[in-house]
Amino acid sequence: FVVHIVASFFSKLQEDPTKKVDRFLYAMHLHDDQLSDISARFQAEMKKGLSVESNAAAALKMLPTHVRSTPDGSEKGEFLALDLGGSRFKVLQVKVGEATGIKKGGVEMVEKTYPTPEESSLLLQLFDHVSESLKDFLHEKNISLERKHPLAFTFSFPCEQSTLNQGLLLNWTKNFRAGGLQGKDVVQALRGALDRIGGVDVEVLAMVNDTVATMMTCGFDDQQCEVGLIIGTGTNACYMEELRHIDLVEGDEGRMCVNTEWGAFGDDGALKDYVTEFDRDLDAASNNPGKQILEKMVGGMYLGELVRLVVLKMAKLGLLFKGQVSKALRTKGTITTEHVAAMEEYKNGLNNTRDLLMGLDLIPTFDDCVAVQHVSTIVSFRSSNLVSAGLAAILTRIMENRNLRKLRITVGVDGTVYKMHPQYPKRLHKVVRRLLPECHVRFVLSDSGSSKGAALVSAVAQRLASRRRQ
Ligand code: GLC
Repeated sequence: FVVHIVASFFSKLQEDPTKKVDRFLYAMHLHDDQLSDISARFQAEMKKGLSVESNAAAALKMLPTHVRSTPDGSEKGEFLALDLGGSRFKVLQVKVGEATGIKKGGVEMVEKTYPTPEESSLLLQLFDHVSESLKDFLHEKNISLERKHPLAFTFSFPCEQSTLNQGLLLNWTKNFRAGGLQGKDVVQALRGALDRIGGVDVEVLAMVNDTVATMMTCGFDDQQCEVGLIIGTGTNACYMEELRHIDLVEGDEGRMCVNTEWGAFGDDGALKDYVTEFDRDLDAASNNPGKQILEKMVGGMYLGELVRLVVLKMAKLGLLFKGQVSKALRTKGTITTEHVAAMEEYKNGLNNTRDLLMGLDLIPTFDDCVAVQHVSTIVSFRSSNLVSAGLAAILTRIMENRNLRKLRITVGVDGTVYKMHPQYPKRLHKVVRRLLPECHVRFVLSDSGSSKGAALVSAVAQRLASRRRQ
């Protein structure tokens, strides 16, 4: 008992455990002036990507999407949709608008999740799996195999598109790496697989990135939505750019949605002043070293691993667990983004942290738990801060494009990190508003936006085509 009292007396004399973490991770704290600096670098990179002379060398690819109009709410139709590249692979039937017996502006979906084909090492296997899943879906949902179905495809990877329903894969990102698709037309590959499997007659109307789909879904209800943002396994954003600034597409009138592929920000060194030793270690051990530098500091595929690398280093230096290091703590992937979200839960966060650490065969003190929870907060806060800086760059660009001193705009957001992390949305909104007080930004969670939106892109394309025919 006496020992306990003495120990607790000394522990009270010890400093707040969050302070030592703050000192250790000072490089991950990003102040507003640093965020403004990052935002300015972002703007410069966007310009580089848009210009035909510098695009080839630019880190931000600023890909034209051939989506020229956000929905006006009058779209209608019935579509099949595929959503590949997020945390789950889904097949859907999406009914849009009054023609289908739903009220005007309504969307109805039936969906099924299939195993993610990310582990497939061959392109053939990947698209055969996609086609088999589609066939299974049609059978299960009793959808007629007799007629041709319009199909919309959300494919969440960087693609160079010269039309709405074609796109060359530039490179894989996140945890996909099926060989043989790079530089090939993805829609063609899908069609090939559908022909091989047989029995499913579809016409691929549109292939869109998940950011674009998210913007379109949100835009169906809110015409001011001109930015789409994903903070999920990976991260990315799109926005409506003036066509006259998009060198890669002919024409000067109107706007087109540009997929920034901002996950690659930093690939040319633009973030070198902000990258820490933990980011470098994570990158070196990844599938794609040197690529997707911002994504590796932000996305859900990496946040847990960053926390693990920090905690491991602190333990090795004797700053945690009295220097104890377990095999589990040494193993890649044992801390996930779900853990990060759980550690930062209001009320239960500390208990969750203790459970996680004990599950990793560690014996944490109370102070260790407080410290590790704080590591998690710093890592996830840095993620939302970097997204804020990127978003501020896009919004500033939109204001400049339109010669505005004030802007009212809606950002459609989707992605597991944004949806699951208890503090993330609040932090993001607050910092964006602080960085850009002249911008009135509304954030709308576009739930399932990445699935729904491809159908909406197809519906808009059909509406515009039928208007042209009239
Ligand atoms: C990766 C992909 C990008 C996608 C993002 C979010 O960054 O390259 O296309 O939008 O992940 O899923």
